[in-house]
Amino acid sequence: MAYPVHRPRRLRRSAALRDMVRETRLAPSDFIYPLFVVEGRDVRRPIASMPGVFNLSVEHVVAEAKRAHALGIPSVLLFGIPDHKDAQGSQAYARDGIVQRAIREIKAAVPELQVIADVCLCEYTDHGHCGVLEGGHVANDATLPLLAQMSVTCAQAGADIIAPSDMMDGRIAAIRKALDEVKMTEVPIMAYSAKYASGFYGPFREAAQSAPQFGDRRGYQMDPGNVREALKETALDVEEGADLIMVKPALSYMDVIRAVRERFELPVVAYNVSGEYSMVKAAAQNGWVDGERLMMEILTSIRRAGADLIITYHALEAAKLL
Ligand code: PBG
Repeated sequence: MAYPVHRPRRLRRSAALRDMVRETRLAPSDFIYPLFVVEGRDVRRPIASMPGVFNLSVEHVVAEAKRAHALGIPSVLLFGIPDHKDAQGSQAYARDGIVQRAIREIKAAVPELQVIADVCLCEYTDHGHCGVLEGGHVANDATLPLLAQMSVTCAQAGADIIAPSDMMDGRIAAIRKALDEVKMTEVPIMAYSAKYASGFYGPFREAAQSAPQFGDRRGYQMDPGNVREALKETALDVEEGADLIMVKPALSYMDVIRAVRERFELPVVAYNVSGEYSMVKAAAQNGWVDGERLMMEILTSIRRAGADLIITYHALEAAKLL
């Protein structure tokens, strides 16, 4: 039976009706808010390529974390940017490294807020790669103990979740084992499982000062043409002990989010990355689009594709509108 009996427009006649039948809703509890912490005092340095995003020293990170919590956002994702970088990324796993200090301060100020530590070496190495080098090549197995050590120091500083973003093979198992050995059996791992080698990370590399000094990340991050490989990567992470799984970036990878959602039972996280954020901001600043409207549409569509949680720089702005 079709028209004139069926008229789908009947349910679109008023805002109240549309609201009643909406299938996908957003809430502040869907969001994870990324923060970039730097050393020094009273630093609040704008990132030119990410309007509204800042490099923050610890006390400003704490203030921003409080604002997120007050708006009902349950968690923040921390990236540390040390003053000292070296070939081994030693500040990544130092007990009093910048990210470990920020974790301690946030947990002391807002204990209910969940602090997620991004675990990767790229912000900490002088060459900007996500692992240590051997013969000009990112060495997988030599990197694993360093990622494990970073995870342990972050968990001991009070991190509630450990989120490895490096894409080394076997890192989830290595991190799980290291956490368990220090009796951190209750700390979950959020695995960047399907992380693509993407041009959409451009602005992040300014924010995190983590651009590779030679070559690129295609030798460890995934090729944008692949989706079966995303399922394989995710299956390996689940087997190794991941508690949450992630697809990154989000917008060009909606089919991957859907495929991962259908295949696995774990909570699925999508990372609405820096380039996706900055494109909206740039177009809105030019008056070409309605930035707030695009933001809400994008966040809704990422949830509709199958993500339970969204890591987004829009978190505060979007939570204010909800
Ligand atoms: C690596 C990491 C990156 C992002 C999150 N973790 C950058 C990269 O892989 O080059 C990108 C996030 C974004 O673009 O918003 N530690």
